Amino acid sequence: GKDVLGIREMSKEDLLEILDTAGEMKKILVGNKDSDILRGKTVVTIFFEPSTRTRLSFEMAAKYLGAHFGNIETKTSSVVKGESLIDTVRTIEKMKADVIVVRHNMSGAPHLMAKYLDASVINAGDGLNEHPTQALLDLMTIREKKGFFDGLKVVIVGDIVHSRVARSNIWGLQKLGAEVRLVGPATLLPKTFEKLGAKVYYDIDKAVDGVDVVMGLRIQLERQKNGLFPSKDEFSKYFGITEERMGLAKKDAILMHPGPINRNVELTSKAANATYSVIEEQVTNGVAVRMALLKILCERRKSNEISY
Ligand code: CP
Repeated sequence: GKDVLGIREMSKEDLLEILDTAGEMKKILVGNKDSDILRGKTVVTIFFEPSTRTRLSFEMAAKYLGAHFGNIETKTSSVVKGESLIDTVRTIEKMKADVIVVRHNMSGAPHLMAKYLDASVINAGDGLNEHPTQALLDLMTIREKKGFFDGLKVVIVGDIVHSRVARSNIWGLQKLGAEVRLVGPATLLPKTFEKLGAKVYYDIDKAVDGVDVVMGLRIQLERQKNGLFPSKDEFSKYFGITEERMGLAKKDAILMHPGPINRNVELTSKAANATYSVIEEQVTNGVAVRMALLKILCERRKSNEISY
């Protein structure tokens, strides 16, 4: 289709096409960062929630591939005067945007936009639903480090219930043949997640035992307005990723985290900085994956697969 809304809708072949293209894009990224693949195209980002990595990596991806680029700061835009989401993004489109990248606190906001726009929409995180570009950069990093997905054991640790990153990764990893384990306190990990095909654990030592990949998640304090149960101290004691706990995973296991990290809550600083940590490589791969998505969507638009 014309949009990137979620991993749930993608096939294994779609995922592999994006990962292969991201591998090609990484050569440009670590090379001269100068390409005209997107010359004449326009990319605009609009984020209704804070971001460092995702927003800037889309800007970098667009610019490295030669696109025009614009960004709306929602807090100083006419959104604060009450302009609706649809009126806002249609206004952006009429300035000839080809791709609009959106992050929104409401699940489904990008899907609503996509219906009302001819421009391509990329979901940069919607409420509790999905963060597809994060999962793609995670998958790219896993493939680079491990070389395969079939039978790979991945454990996702922490605040699963509020995590769109977890949801997108559960879909993506399973489609590619990996085994997904989830572990966290029962308040942040309902047993219903088993319906998605993942194994649910409440004991981190058992969950980490023998895995290839340990993926931490940020505790989403902004989505837990009534307080955090367990407390940060309790969380780090019972579910924090430490060097000792990494020792229970396979010898060559890697440690991932989407960022931003609450240091010494989700993971100790020692673990985050250890040689098995690939957290900073995830950031670099985030640019490559976003370059790949912009390239694929703009090529589809050019070949008239998409009607204006
Ligand atoms: N991982 C991630 O989405 O980070 P940002 O919130 O900084 O974009």
